[in-house]
Amino acid sequence: MARFKTALKYSEVTPKADFLNRRQLMAGAAGLTMAGGITTGLATPAAAALNAAKSKWSTDAEPTSLEDITSYNNFYEFGTGKGDPAQYAKALTTDPWSVEIGGLVNNPGSYALEDILKDMTLEERIYRFRCVEAWSMVIPWVGFQLSDLIAKADPQGNAKYVAFETLQRPEEMHGQKNGSFPWPYVEGLRMDEAMHPLTIMATGLYDEPLPNQNGAPLRLVVPWKYGFKSIKSIVKITLTEKEPPATWNIINAREYGFYSNVNPEVSHPRWSQASHRVIGGGLFAKKEPTQMFNGYGDDVASLYEGMDLSKFF
Ligand code: MTE
Repeated sequence: MARFKTALKYSEVTPKADFLNRRQLMAGAAGLTMAGGITTGLATPAAAALNAAKSKWSTDAEPTSLEDITSYNNFYEFGTGKGDPAQYAKALTTDPWSVEIGGLVNNPGSYALEDILKDMTLEERIYRFRCVEAWSMVIPWVGFQLSDLIAKADPQGNAKYVAFETLQRPEEMHGQKNGSFPWPYVEGLRMDEAMHPLTIMATGLYDEPLPNQNGAPLRLVVPWKYGFKSIKSIVKITLTEKEPPATWNIINAREYGFYSNVNPEVSHPRWSQASHRVIGGGLFAKKEPTQMFNGYGDDVASLYEGMDLSKFF
């Protein structure tokens, strides 16, 4: 994906002609500096254990270290360097937090996060996580099934998609001062994807509350899709009839489709998706073959029956 230096490096996300146009447009945009260093970003030692129950949906693969999960991040609201979120996301106030649930539901409203959580069952879900940039981790999330929250909202019959939106608060999210990115970050799922038991809203990892850099206090996790679908720090959920916009698809539809299912057979226009680098291996990081639907095909392939996945990528 793109990296900001003094400006968003669209050369990495857009065809060259678009990139040149963009650069001209952005000539006056405030630049961002790269993070000087990387902090460990570990969750505070005082954080309370969540004691989440184990789940049958977990993989038995070895989880990536907490240090790697919390110091190698993508969260452009805090800059585009992998170490920026660990360094700058501390500025984000995550309490109080509320989520506006609306659109085609019978129980719309602005709900305080603690009220949402009262009704939800937290589980530990150890999932494979595959970024579109061809790296992977195994993350022990804590969260609840999105289907339970949608059921509470009581969807209307014509709801076909779920739209998500990240907080927009440039005073705390300095990356949002860069006007070249279409803030706020938005994402979407088809209703059956959102209702799938593998799809969770994460509130923690390693049995502790979610560190800010990983999308506190509430982020989506869809383990069979590329990581950018897993939108962080969500403040709005809207059920819609039409396919909702998705940030990377807005930026470059040719490279980032709405579905973005992990698929080793459909290359990114600028790199292969057949294998990925396993984070945590240091200089000698292992490469592994990428599996269809990130290894969750038995559970989710039926959602896409009859669809041409090279067209609906
Ligand atoms: N959500 C928001 N709001 N902003 C972002 O920049 N980056 C996405 C996704 N969700 C992003 C986001 C991308 S590209 C990835 S790979 C994952 O978050 C990274 O999640 P992690 O940092 O917890 O590993």
